[in-house]
Amino acid sequence: MNEEQITERVAELGPWFHNMQLGGVQTAPQHFLGDYPAVKYRHFRTSLPADMTGLSVLDIGCNGGFYSLEMKRRGAARVLGIDTDERYLKQARFAAEVTGLDVQFDRLPVWDVAALGERFDLVIFMGVLYHLRHPLLALDLIHEHVSKDLLLFQSMQRGSRDVAELKENYDFNEPAPFDEAGYPKLHFIERRYSHDQTNWWVPNRACTEAMLRSAGFAIESQPEEEVYVCRWRPVAVPADGPHAVYPPSGVRSAPGPAR
Ligand SMILES: C[S@@+](CC[C@H](N)C(=O)[O-])C[C@H]1O[C@@H](n2cnc3c(N)ncnc32)[C@H](O)[C@@H]1O
Repeated sequence: MNEEQITERVAELGPWFHNMQLGGVQTAPQHFLGDYPAVKYRHFRTSLPADMTGLSVLDIGCNGGFYSLEMKRRGAARVLGIDTDERYLKQARFAAEVTGLDVQFDRLPVWDVAALGERFDLVIFMGVLYHLRHPLLALDLIHEHVSKDLLLFQSMQRGSRDVAELKENYDFNEPAPFDEAGYPKLHFIERRYSHDQTNWWVPNRACTEAMLRSAGFAIESQPEEEVYVCRWRPVAVPADGPHAVYPPSGVRSAPGPAR
């Protein structure tokens, strides 16, 4: 494809959320966040393995495929990007075609990841959590079905940056902790935030970290304010009953093939 043909196709597939250079053509040069997501990636790119030879990657909410393609450039053996939006998936497939990178892009919501029947060395879950009506369920499903080791996570955060030290338990007549700035808080958006009706829940920093831990992801580093590199850990399921609505039961002792 020559530059003129790429320019034409980029325009047909737009508007783009991911700005990428495809054969010298920029896909979203007017992005409201600048050269996005490259400007964000710069802050955490060194927190991921430089050589990903032999590793598998699942990019949930892959959008135009920026992170999927970057992981393939690092030598990942298998990269699968999933998203619910067919327009974004078309963009991602086109970006893969132009760059000559062998990456698969499929339409699949995060709710259906169990259908993949496969665990991945790295799961990327960037910029999706706050677009979900059931954010903790998504993290539980990722932990239960597709994560094997690393999770690269990002969420928009609002509210205090403080992180309060939490006690094991609080008495029923002790309401004060909920008013502490650093107590985990998830802000519900009934109407709109940033003119976007798909924004549902925005955690503060303490809540982001608590949700990750609760779903079984140990935080290894926070290379950027909103970005976390986590590692899969077993979640203890109490013997005396289910610990959450989902999953209703089951032993999650060690990463392995999907059960
Ligand atoms: C803000 S964009 C983030 C894109 C990319 N991960 C990044 O960080 O630049 C959110 C993406 O999540 C996708 N998405 C929204 N709900 C989803 C769901 N239930 N399952 C999978 N993807 C979803 C959207 O279509 C969109 O591409």
